[in-house]
Amino acid sequence: MVVRVVVVGGGVSGVGSALAILQRLPSCNLTIIAEHFTPNTTGDGAAGFWEPHLTTGTPQEKIIQWCQETWELFCSWWQYKQQMGVSFVYGETISQDPVPEKSWQHVPFAFHSLSHSECVKFGPQYQSGFSFGTVTAEPLKFLPVLLEEVRALGGSVKMCRLTSLAEAAAEADIVINCSGLGARKLVPDPEVYPCRGQVMRVRAPWVGRYLCDASKKSFAYIIPNLETVVLGGTNQDHDWRLEVDPTDSQTIWDNCTALMPSLKKAEVIKEWVGLRPCRESGVRLEADELQVDSRIVPVVHNYGHGGSGVTLFWGCSKEVADIACDLIHKHYGLPSRL
Ligand SMILES: Cc1cc2nc3c(=O)[nH]c(=O)nc-3n(C[C@H](O)[C@H](O)[C@H](O)COP(=O)(O)OP(=O)(O)OC[C@H]3O[C@@H](n4cnc5c(N)ncnc54)[C@H](O)[C@@H]3O)c2cc1C
Ligand SMILES: *[C@@H]1O[C@H](CO)[C@@H](O)[C@H](O)[C@H]1NC(C)=O
Ligand SMILES: *[C@@H]1O[C@H](CO)[C@@H](O)[C@H](O)[C@H]1NC(C)=O
Ligand SMILES: *[C@@H]1O[C@H](CO)[C@@H](O)[C@H](O)[C@H]1NC(C)=O
Ligand SMILES: *[C@@H]1O[C@H](CO)[C@@H](O)[C@H](O)[C@H]1NC(C)=O
Repeated sequence: MVVRVVVVGGGVSGVGSALAILQRLPSCNLTIIAEHFTPNTTGDGAAGFWEPHLTTGTPQEKIIQWCQETWELFCSWWQYKQQMGVSFVYGETISQDPVPEKSWQHVPFAFHSLSHSECVKFGPQYQSGFSFGTVTAEPLKFLPVLLEEVRALGGSVKMCRLTSLAEAAAEADIVINCSGLGARKLVPDPEVYPCRGQVMRVRAPWVGRYLCDASKKSFAYIIPNLETVVLGGTNQDHDWRLEVDPTDSQTIWDNCTALMPSLKKAEVIKEWVGLRPCRESGVRLEADELQVDSRIVPVVHNYGHGGSGVTLFWGCSKEVADIACDLIHKHYGLPSRL
């Protein structure tokens, strides 16, 4: 029997899960079904900055495991696959408020807290902060490559909007649910909600470090990507607007240029809005079951990654593949590990 796997979702979570499953079970018949594929998924406008962020509700030990596995993948891409859009970046996060301890601080490079004198260099109002070295991995660059890898391993893609999960399960032996914010509606998970993020991309090749003001009062971040620098940004909970809001553009510009005055000379290339798929109790990564007519179809959920979907995607994808292999073994009795 050839196991038919349907992955719902074409963002980093869906494509990553599909690839991890195909690597473990090369003989399965896998299809990714999604309404949007790259360059139109939530990750495609993200800076791809590796830092667990807005992950409220997810257990810290899970965050550490998933972000570490993704870190290792990004480092290997940096070494062997330059086309994946990975670059290293050092910099500082400063704040007028106390910055909490980071459970994941041993994973990236040279993480250390800033002394008072290091903070006030950015302005007398800053009282705490940290510095570290991390990577940015741009989904706009790596998603097309991963989709090619999925195809090369025999996977296929289908672009359509699903109105029910039964539709996805109709021709599947197992369904992987990576529908992001779509999970709210597909059969309601009311815990899923958007956190609107508006950003601006500017040309400013002289910016080599990242800088983030994490203060509640003056939140702003400046993240260099390979060709542009990302200026952000908003974190607006329960806001569904996908249009660029000129008031937000103005505050992003004002806050970022206040933080780094040299940006006043930068040319604006693009503005963009994405809705982070947040979930009150954090990432949902677990097995479930679906009744479709007389069949029980196993499901693996993988959604609700909020502001860290890129940072966590490979660790989550590998765990999805583990769970999927066990479910396939349990339901269909095939060898689950090769
Ligand atoms: C401004 C901004 C900046 C960000 N910066 C970073 C960053 O620097 N680092 C980081 O780690 N994260 C960042 N994030 C978060 C990250 O982008 C997301 O967590 C991640 O992209 C979520 O990926 P996903 O695959 O789970 O969901 P999505 O990319 O939203 O994918 C969901 C998929 O499901 C499909 N789908 C949903 N419903 C249906 C349906 N009914 N029928 C068919 N298909 C359906 C969609 O079409 C889509 O293909 C940022 C987000 C924003 C908005
Ligand atoms: C995979 O499954 C689809 C849907 O059931 C089917 O149309 C297709 O022929 C299958 N492909 C292979 C290689 O088995
Ligand atoms: C992305 O969206 C644009 C604009 O809606 C559309 O023209 C394009 O075909 C989409 N691309 C993909 C791969 O879905
Ligand atoms: C995905 O999960 C959401 C939230 O639980 C649910 O509403 C939806 O039906 C699921 N979709 C599939 C295809 O299992
Ligand atoms: C910018 O700063 C203002 C106050 O100076 C603050 O209210 C706002 O949250 C900050 N960030 C954005 C994106 O507006």
